[in-house]
Amino acid sequence: MDNNVERRVKKICVVGLGYIGLPTASMLANHGYNVVGVDVDRDRVRSIEEGNLNIVEPGLKTLVSGAINSGNLRVKTTPEDADAYIICVPTPVKWEDNAPRCDLSYIYSAIESIKPHLRDGNLIIIESTVPPKTTESIYRYLNNSRKIYMAYCPERVLPGKILKELVENDRIIGGVNRESAELAKEIYSSFVDGNIYLTDSTTAEMVKLMENTYRDVNIALANEFAKICEEINVNVWEAIDLANRHPRVNILNPGPGVGGHCISVDPWFIVEVSKNAKLIRSARELNDSMPYYVCNLLCKELKRRKIEDPKVAIFGVAYKGNVEDTRESPGKKVIKYLISKGISVSIYDPYVKTFEYPLESLKDCVKNADVILVITDHEDFKNFKEDEVREIYYLMRNKIVIDTRNVLNQDLWRNVGFYVKLLGDGKCKL
Ligand SMILES: NC(=O)c1ccc[n+]([C@@H]2O[C@H](COP(=O)([O-])OP(=O)(O)OC[C@H]3O[C@@H](n4cnc5c(N)ncnc54)[C@H](O)[C@@H]3O)[C@@H](O)[C@H]2O)c1
Repeated sequence: MDNNVERRVKKICVVGLGYIGLPTASMLANHGYNVVGVDVDRDRVRSIEEGNLNIVEPGLKTLVSGAINSGNLRVKTTPEDADAYIICVPTPVKWEDNAPRCDLSYIYSAIESIKPHLRDGNLIIIESTVPPKTTESIYRYLNNSRKIYMAYCPERVLPGKILKELVENDRIIGGVNRESAELAKEIYSSFVDGNIYLTDSTTAEMVKLMENTYRDVNIALANEFAKICEEINVNVWEAIDLANRHPRVNILNPGPGVGGHCISVDPWFIVEVSKNAKLIRSARELNDSMPYYVCNLLCKELKRRKIEDPKVAIFGVAYKGNVEDTRESPGKKVIKYLISKGISVSIYDPYVKTFEYPLESLKDCVKNADVILVITDHEDFKNFKEDEVREIYYLMRNKIVIDTRNVLNQDLWRNVGFYVKLLGDGKCKL
């Protein structure tokens, strides 16, 4: 934005200071806005004030401390009067009578908390992912009493690259009317280098859901290919790599399932609003079934080798490589299932700090284990050195590895003496 143009919005209240809200609030503060960050979680507010972030994201600590030290970012547990409000609270999926529903309770409680502060001319932006028409219906609810502006501005950042992508990615801004979209654009242009496209709020909501659904369906296709390749003795990884040499083909990777707060959740919001979402539903179901498919592979291997009282070393519980986020992680489902079958489990994840099951050091995790089950494609797993692999070999009881992400240096592990089984590799026999 041209810095000489007077900003209509000067004070912004960002509601929800998680993976999305905190970087956004800090970015705005560092670009001259007077920002109040609000989170109902007192511990989170305190830890932000003290500079002890519980979110691991490159550059975030510096960005947040810069924003707080400049005096432009204050954090607290309740909202206050502002010119604009940006809502970044969770929107999980919940199930009612076997049907998926977006749990909008966090959104509505955020809206209720800012309602007493709303004045004519205020702008509300929703960044949380929501089903189509949500923004419009909140606007109708609020605009009865006030003349407000409202927009939906989906967040499309990649965890691990949030700060870079916040600035560089193109943005979609969906206004309930043209004035709302223009006013929201004024705010985002202060820090976004990418293009900003304006549309209506329902289209913007659908765009966000389509982006994540596209990835979910593509991964489901890869997972289906993996199962088929197991059956017909083909290595799916090699087949996908070769298929992707076609100039118009881009198949994603198979794996133990899809996790995280977005791809494994958002497609359900389309299923919620339309009976036509048949492919989307079945892709979601297929991806949700992958942890059990992987457990089945593992159990077959244990049975084939007649391993009694097995111990399985799980490598990685983050939902994807190089992040500490375990939300909706396939690892959780795998662990729960194996424990329910009486199989002893130990867990190693060099990125994750807290988890609902105990985490162990690498050595403790593999000590007397029979199988290593690789669930997450962390860089650390890719880069094991030969002496480390040898040490793991001597610590284990049986020397079996099942790699669901094709992340290990298989030649190295095999040379050391491991039997390595790859998800979707029908060719890989003992
Ligand atoms: N994490 C991502 O990579 C990502 C990417 C794109 C979109 N999104 C969407 O953004 C939204 C937020 O996701 P997130 O990952 O930042 O979630 P998060 O759980 O990390 O953070 C949400 C924060 O909101 C707080 N909160 C809940 N209710 C509140 C209320 N009424 N008032 C104030 N604070 C409240 C929580 O305490 C929490 O700190 C979700 O809808 C998500 O789907 C997330």
